[in-house]
Amino acid sequence: MDLKEAISFKLPDIFPSENKFREGIRRAPNRGLNLNQNEIVTAMKNALRYIPDHLHDEIIPEFLEELITTGRIYGYRYRPGEELSGRPVDSYKGKTIEGKAFQVMIDNNLDFKVALYPYELVTYGESGQVFQNWMQYCLVKKYLEEMREDQTLIIYSGHPLGLFPTSINAPRVISTNGMLVGEYDNLEGFVKAAALGVSNYGQMTAGGWMYIGPQGIVHGTYITLLNAGRLYLGIPDDKDLSGVVFVSSGLGGMSGAQPKAVEIAGGIGVIAEVDRSRIETRHEQGWVSKVSGDPGEIVGWINEYRESGKPVSIAFHGNIVDMLEYFAANKIKIELLSDQTSCHDAYGGGYTPAGYTFEQGRKLLTEDPDKFRKEVDRSLLKHFKVITDLTEQGTYFWDYGNSFLKAVFDAGLKEVAIDPSDPSAGFVFPSYVEHIMGPMCFDYGYGPFRWVCLSGEKEDLKKTDAAAMSQIDPERRGMDRDNYQWIRDAEKNALVVGTQARILYADAGGRVDIALKFNEMVRSGEIGPVMIGRDHHDVSGTDSPYRETSNIKDGSNITADMAVQNFAGDAVRGMSMVVLSNGGGVGIGKAFNGGFGLVLDGSELKDKIIRSAMEWDVMNGVARRAWARNDNALETAEEWNKNNQGKGHLTIPFLADEKKLEALVAERLK
Ligand SMILES: NC(=O)c1ccc[n+]([C@@H]2O[C@H](COP(=O)([O-])OP(=O)(O)OC[C@H]3O[C@@H](n4cnc5c(N)ncnc54)[C@H](O)[C@@H]3O)[C@@H](O)[C@H]2O)c1
Repeated sequence: MDLKEAISFKLPDIFPSENKFREGIRRAPNRGLNLNQNEIVTAMKNALRYIPDHLHDEIIPEFLEELITTGRIYGYRYRPGEELSGRPVDSYKGKTIEGKAFQVMIDNNLDFKVALYPYELVTYGESGQVFQNWMQYCLVKKYLEEMREDQTLIIYSGHPLGLFPTSINAPRVISTNGMLVGEYDNLEGFVKAAALGVSNYGQMTAGGWMYIGPQGIVHGTYITLLNAGRLYLGIPDDKDLSGVVFVSSGLGGMSGAQPKAVEIAGGIGVIAEVDRSRIETRHEQGWVSKVSGDPGEIVGWINEYRESGKPVSIAFHGNIVDMLEYFAANKIKIELLSDQTSCHDAYGGGYTPAGYTFEQGRKLLTEDPDKFRKEVDRSLLKHFKVITDLTEQGTYFWDYGNSFLKAVFDAGLKEVAIDPSDPSAGFVFPSYVEHIMGPMCFDYGYGPFRWVCLSGEKEDLKKTDAAAMSQIDPERRGMDRDNYQWIRDAEKNALVVGTQARILYADAGGRVDIALKFNEMVRSGEIGPVMIGRDHHDVSGTDSPYRETSNIKDGSNITADMAVQNFAGDAVRGMSMVVLSNGGGVGIGKAFNGGFGLVLDGSELKDKIIRSAMEWDVMNGVARRAWARNDNALETAEEWNKNNQGKGHLTIPFLADEKKLEALVAERLK
């Protein structure tokens, strides 16, 4: 049989011309070649599956060179020559609005302004890829152009498996990333699969095509900081962080949101960063207003702004440990403290040890990785020591989901874990989800709802901002007030990078109301079509014991039923696209996360999907959190049951008398 005759969707029969790399665009590091000779042959054969066979002789040396020098075959030649950006939806080819909308999202995720390493298809989080290679990008685009509304495109780790007949009520795209069988569900297993070209680390919204630039993180950080002020400092719901000092580190991909968020929250932010280029990016962007390498000068600014009560964001160029040691030695008052160095990959360059400049740290990492590791351990212990000194002086510290406390544990200080033999039981300082995001947001159903105005019109974003604001009652809860203020000031805060997008934390009812309102506006022609979705870092989307589910205390934080059920439930209810990924934020094997995209075209069908799917997407996580006996989730689930009598019902637990139970167990075990 001639296989070629069976191929209708394929890459062109002629080669695209070779692309030049543009100067000044950040490139992914060489991830090292870890395949043996046979595996190299397999990786090559795998990549050649995308290429018409008469072109193989010419492309083989190019692919082999890429594999040997970068550890992966990215297929650079297939990257379209032009600069990618999420263009107005009407400028894309397609037979469905969904097919065109997904192309907007994909291109936005690969925009030079948005993506971390755009040539390597990495959107954010060091290794979060949209696709594994450019051949997948080209082929997926072809499918999306041809897809009809009775078909579904299936994607395995960026690879389009095919277009299958379904129905108008089914998702148009179902995608999974990095799924591995238990025995191989670890970094080693993944690295090999990725080098062979059969698995993708999608992070959360990179492989989920819903990344909307750094504003996604700014809102979450803003909420975390305000709530940290309320929880630890007793700041009332209607007050901001005026006069309060927040100190942290990192001005990178996500951490770079900290100075902007603290300024929006009205406080004084001091962020240490070793890499000068990162400071420059944030300074040029206007997210950092003052820069100094002298802690003494910074203390002068802190005093000045504390007195005036005005907000300010300050970058310290240097190592966080040095700055904290200066503050501790000089008894400088710091109310709130955290850390966002990339400790999830501390030994791979995510954490620069004290005593080294950024450049010296990079040099040591390349020349003597063992010594680098030792220096990281030494620095982490010093770092932890100065944190405890500051907390003894009245500072509140929390772990920002960057595995800082786990890294200190790995560096040898076992006492940093509540149970020194088992870090999964938690650490002596809380994580931001455990104390703040989990109980104060997720348990009520509040999470990072977002949307993209597919017309690309600024005016549409303005109208949707106003419409979303009209759906929030700022008097209901502190969270509603924060969200109301966020959306009221969103345009003024100039947060858009890439497509005309917005993030807004909202609960189940809020998300449904806002989405219905948008769909009505599309129907009436007031605005063009809108893509709604969310970050996977949400109420129900992610099972991750050190992060999203760290405030689940019934032992189920090591299970992943919620993320999988959430994905399946979104699919059967007809979301336009559903995604389930391994890893995300914390690394392969440590979490499962999923999300959705729903294209609002003004149709009645989309109203129906909003009502059933959006509510499910939030409430299944609230139900799970309530079953885990979380107070605020119990309150939310009870209210839902009351409002939904005859329609649905969430299982609510009976609560044991804990004190009595503990005493009885202790007595029996004597
Ligand atoms: N922002 C959030 O909402 C959030 C949520 C969960 C997890 N995180 C975690 O935060 C971490 C940071 O994320 P990112 O995307 O910004 O990573 P990134 O690698 O882009 O940025 C980290 C920055 O820290 C700097 N740095 C490293 N060591 C330093 C030191 N000793 N002193 C001063 N600066 C130092 C690096 O130069 C780098 O710019 C990750 O581990 C991420 O998983 C963030």
